[in-house]
Amino acid sequence: MTNDISTNDSRFPSGASAFPHTHLLGIAGLQSWEILYILDQAEKWVKLNKSKASKRDESLAGLTIINAFFENSTRTLLSFEIAGKRLGADVVNMHAAQSSIKKGETLIDTAVTLNAMHADAIVIRHGSSGAVQLISDKVDCPVLNAGDGTNEHPTQALLDALTIMRRKGNVEGQIVTICGDILHSRVARSNIYCLKLLGAEVRVVGPPSLVPKTLEAFGVKRYTNFEQAIEGCDVIMMLRLQNERMQGDFIPSGREYNFLYGLNEQRLSLAKDDVLIMHPGPMNRGVEIESSVADDAKLSAITEQVEMGVAVRMACLDILTRKARNTEGWT
Ligand code: CP
Repeated sequence: MTNDISTNDSRFPSGASAFPHTHLLGIAGLQSWEILYILDQAEKWVKLNKSKASKRDESLAGLTIINAFFENSTRTLLSFEIAGKRLGADVVNMHAAQSSIKKGETLIDTAVTLNAMHADAIVIRHGSSGAVQLISDKVDCPVLNAGDGTNEHPTQALLDALTIMRRKGNVEGQIVTICGDILHSRVARSNIYCLKLLGAEVRVVGPPSLVPKTLEAFGVKRYTNFEQAIEGCDVIMMLRLQNERMQGDFIPSGREYNFLYGLNEQRLSLAKDDVLIMHPGPMNRGVEIESSVADDAKLSAITEQVEMGVAVRMACLDILTRKARNTEGWT
């Protein structure tokens, strides 16, 4: 499959001949046209993935991709694995629980070890913010951040943007409310960067202890009242309480949290009639979201987000390995 963006596409700078980044460490540092380019490329993989005949392309045949996950994952790990395989690559998964990390090997020694195996791309999830950047400095191939601590989860923000774009036609001008544990959420952080770059109005809401005031510096509107935050909005993005990253008590109880910040049908009626309901998963039903809302066949895009995740990760793997494949450039 060819890279079918031409340099006379007015959304992309005329002088650019290739995607100008070696790694995908975060949305911070990307420009809006770079995001739009990834999303544009993902569209062709959406079509391939929906195809009944064959879901296989051989663009990455002969390449080796290592997925090194130091934290649990269902969606991100499996979709990166499927993405690599659908592009014809050999994909190997390293689960930290069964690795020599358990014997005391350091993160840097692990990175050097993976590098010695001549991987063509390494996808990393790690519990510490900045760990993925650290590894990218030690290896010779592109590194893709699959979530690092509370820092960033760039492919999640990209797949969310693609989902909004496909459902709403555009991200620009949409009012997006992100609700929940903003403080500990790498999904929220990457989405705030991405949605602002693409021209959305972003509102954040949650218990005062979980919504940092410093976010206002990013042009985000901060609320502590859920009803006010979702009034008239186009998209509601619900987040899970990141209990594993909380030290101390940030909320009195799950029950009280649900009472104040749980998304139910009554609250949903405050948003626009065609509001899009999103959640990166995994969901805690009955805590941040009721099943009647999460499973709403018309308004919920939660399974579509998972579908877009495969396409976006195919686009990222394809774009970042072009240099190694000598296929750099738009066409
Ligand atoms: N959204 C997300 O990152 O899900 P997983 O933890 O299952 O990968």
